[in-house]
Amino acid sequence: MTVAKLWGGRFSGGPAQALEELNASISFDMRLAPYDLLASKAHARVLHRAGLLDDSELDRMLTALTELTESVAADEFPVSVSDEDVHTALERGLLERLGPLGGKLRAGRSRNDQVATDLRMYCRDHARGLASRLVDLIDALVSQAVQHVETPVPGMTHLQHAQPVTFAHQLLAHVQAFLRDLERLRDWDARAAVSPLGSGALAGSSLPLDPARVAAELGFESSSANSMDGVSDRDFVVELLFVTATIGLHLSRLGEEVVLWSSSEFNWVVLDDAYATGSSIMPQKKNPDIAELARGKSGRLVGNLTTLLVTLKSLPLAYNKDLQEDKEPVFDSLDTLELLLPAVSGMIATMSVNASVMAESAPRGFSLATEIADWLVRRGVPFRDAHEITGAVVARCAAKGVELHELADDDLASISEHLTSAVREVLTVEGALAGRTTPGSTGPKAVTTQLADIGDRVSHWRTWADTTVVPD
Ligand code: ARG
Repeated sequence: MTVAKLWGGRFSGGPAQALEELNASISFDMRLAPYDLLASKAHARVLHRAGLLDDSELDRMLTALTELTESVAADEFPVSVSDEDVHTALERGLLERLGPLGGKLRAGRSRNDQVATDLRMYCRDHARGLASRLVDLIDALVSQAVQHVETPVPGMTHLQHAQPVTFAHQLLAHVQAFLRDLERLRDWDARAAVSPLGSGALAGSSLPLDPARVAAELGFESSSANSMDGVSDRDFVVELLFVTATIGLHLSRLGEEVVLWSSSEFNWVVLDDAYATGSSIMPQKKNPDIAELARGKSGRLVGNLTTLLVTLKSLPLAYNKDLQEDKEPVFDSLDTLELLLPAVSGMIATMSVNASVMAESAPRGFSLATEIADWLVRRGVPFRDAHEITGAVVARCAAKGVELHELADDDLASISEHLTSAVREVLTVEGALAGRTTPGSTGPKAVTTQLADIGDRVSHWRTWADTTVVPD
């Protein structure tokens, strides 16, 4: 194996082992290799156009880069800590194949613009995969929602029964959050689509390179407007970590609900055996591990964002080795979601819903009290008074141990002259739900409209997720 340090010239001896081990990023940055090789091909072509490589040199260079790509993909390109990083390792591979010609590729570029370019390509590519998994999760939530457009559940605030809602509406509330995450990924991508290649170490290049053309070849929209910013900007990583942390928060909130729903106390859903776990000691147990890990893994997703924010704080321009610390957090966050999202999707798609348990529990806890207040308002009673009167009705029911619709006419009349037996008409869950017709409401009609709108949006996102941003 050739030892190909990229910076040996002015040094009299080799690096101390402790430095080599600390300095190396090869153990985690080899996953940038396919992107580094694509960028190298684009750079070879720009050197050729600039007259710095002749036709046959370009040919040999591209062939060697293709061979390297294949051998990396086949896991046949061994690396060691002395390679330091992916860029150094691949240059060694080129030198081993081409001899001195391999050394020509470094003209006009630096690892500083290389790594910034590779990481952008990696992130943009993986963001599409993430979007695709988010769309799968949305599909799973929607597949349950369509079956429960009319299924009532107790809608909660403060985890107390508040007003009945349809189960579809609650599931679609989660969908809306994930749709915003998709929008965040798209907005992020528009800002991330800037190629730093051509920025060199920090000052650009004296060679006749063509950064805009290279950018286009690599699937970017433009090239950096400022070479110092090009090599030192890691906003694209921070922003992606914010998006992944936010997805983590959304998954943790959904996870927490599934933990509650699947408890004996709620008994709203039963998880499929394939998406639940057992206990080593209690044979009766069925545990919602996926939901708990959705909750638990949000910690590391938020942590990764914090890690990079703190790393970047106060860094002077331009490149500093601190920036090498950008990779592990973002790889970890993307890996985590890659693992988590399919499991959550499967859990949601396969859970069975106890619609009758939900329906039974929907009117409990006097959750139809607001219907009485609204009924009074429709009869001209100021809401302030209606609220008072309804409060008295609830107190009377609680004292007598009856539900709202069971309160006798005498009781109603003694609380307020406005209360007649006609109020009972609104004291059904179905009536309360059907009455919720304003756009965005929980009523079955409004939810059907919401579902149709989501259907349109999801097909757009499926296309977006499937569009490749990195050339072959
Ligand atoms: N492995 C380095 C990183 O990830 C590549 C850039 C090294 N640049 C340098 N000037 N030492 O940031």
